[in-house]
Amino acid sequence: MLILGLETSCDETAASVIKANQKITVLSSIVSSQISLHAEWGGVVPNLAAREHLKHILPVIEASLTEASIEASDLDLIAITNGPGLIPALLIGTNAAKTLSYVWQKPLLGIHHIEGHIYANFIDQIRSQKSKVKNATIKFPVLCLVVSGGHTQLVLMKDHLQYEIVGQTLDDAAGEAFDKVARILGLGYPGGPAVAAAAKKYQPKITATKMQTKLPRPMLNSKNFDFSFSGLKTAVLYTVRKNPKILQEKRSVSALCREFQQAVVDVLVAKTLRAAEKYNPKTIMLAGGVSANDELRSQLGLAIKKELPKTGYCLPNAGYSIDNAVMIAAAGFFRWQKMTGTQRRTALVEWNKLATDANLKLK
Ligand code: KG4
Ligand code: ZN
Repeated sequence: MLILGLETSCDETAASVIKANQKITVLSSIVSSQISLHAEWGGVVPNLAAREHLKHILPVIEASLTEASIEASDLDLIAITNGPGLIPALLIGTNAAKTLSYVWQKPLLGIHHIEGHIYANFIDQIRSQKSKVKNATIKFPVLCLVVSGGHTQLVLMKDHLQYEIVGQTLDDAAGEAFDKVARILGLGYPGGPAVAAAAKKYQPKITATKMQTKLPRPMLNSKNFDFSFSGLKTAVLYTVRKNPKILQEKRSVSALCREFQQAVVDVLVAKTLRAAEKYNPKTIMLAGGVSANDELRSQLGLAIKKELPKTGYCLPNAGYSIDNAVMIAAAGFFRWQKMTGTQRRTALVEWNKLATDANLKLK
C-alpha cells in the first residue's frame, strides 16, 4: 500500500510517501526545516513555526508526491502527527491532512509523534556501510529508550503498538538539556549537534588543566528508571558562572561539552541496562532526535554487547532520528495492519473527528 505521512509538530514541515507491504520502501522524504528562523530566538517560537508550516505544507506535500512519482489518487492512506507538540504547529498539519482526506477520499490516521520515532526503527533494517552498529532483527518484547527534545522515556513494548512507560524524566528531556547547555555556552540552536560537535574536538593533552570539571550523573543510582537532567544543566551554568573564562577558550568549552555529553550518556546507558535486566527484552531500541548522537549510539551498543550479549540492539538510520514524515507513515502502516474493516471505513468517513492534542498520551 502507498501511504502519505505528514509531520508538523515542531519546527520541521515534513511529508513522505512510503510503499509498505512485507517491507517498507521509502519513495520520498521531504523535510523543510525552520532551524535558521528559530536560531535567532534560541528556541522554537510556536506562532512563527505555525506561519512557516502554513507556507510550506502544500509545496512539501506536492514535492513528496512528485519525488515518489505518484498521483494523489494512488494513495491508500494519510497518516498525520496529531500530538504531542506545539498546538499552532500541529493544527496546520492536521487541518491540511483532514482537508486532503475529504477531498481525495482517503482514510486518515492520527499518529502519536513518539510512536513515529519508535517506528523509525522499522523503516529499514539494513544499515549504511558507514554505520558502526549492525542492527539486530527486531523481536518482542522490545525496550525502547526514547530521547528527543520533548521526551525522555523508557518504553516497554510486548508487541506492536503496545506501550508501557517504565521510566521517564522528572524535569527536562535529554534533548532539551543539550539545547539549554548549548545556549549557556553560546553554541547556538539546535544544541544537540552543536554540543556533540564541540565535544568531538576535545583533546585531553592540550585542554587547559583548570578545566577538570566533573559533572553529576543525576539519578544514576536511584532504584527506579526515571531520569532528571535539569540539575545537570544547572551544574554547567554554575561552572561557567564560577569561571567565565571558559567561554573564551574553545578547548575548555569542548572539555565541558564532552563531560556534559558523557554525563547524559552514562545515565541513559546505565538506566536502560538496569531496566533491561528487570524486563528481559529481546531487543533494545533507541529513538528520537538525541538518538542521532554518535556517542550514545555507540556506547549503548557496546554496553549491551558486554552486559547483555543475548539482547539485540537496534537504532534508526541517523537520517530518521530527527523529525521526519517517513516515521509517521511507517507507524501509520503498522496501525492500519491491526485495524478491522469497520475501523478502516471509519478512518475514511470520520476524518473530521481527528483530534489535535498538545499533550497526547502514548497508548
Ligand atoms: O526528535 P526531535 O527531532 O524533536 C522532538 O521530537 O523533540 O529531537 C530534537 C532534539 C533536540 O533537542 C536536539 O538538540 C537533539 O534532538 N539532537 C541531538 C543531536 N541531534 C539532535 N542531541 C544530541 N546529539 C545530537 N547529535
Ligand atoms: Zn521528534
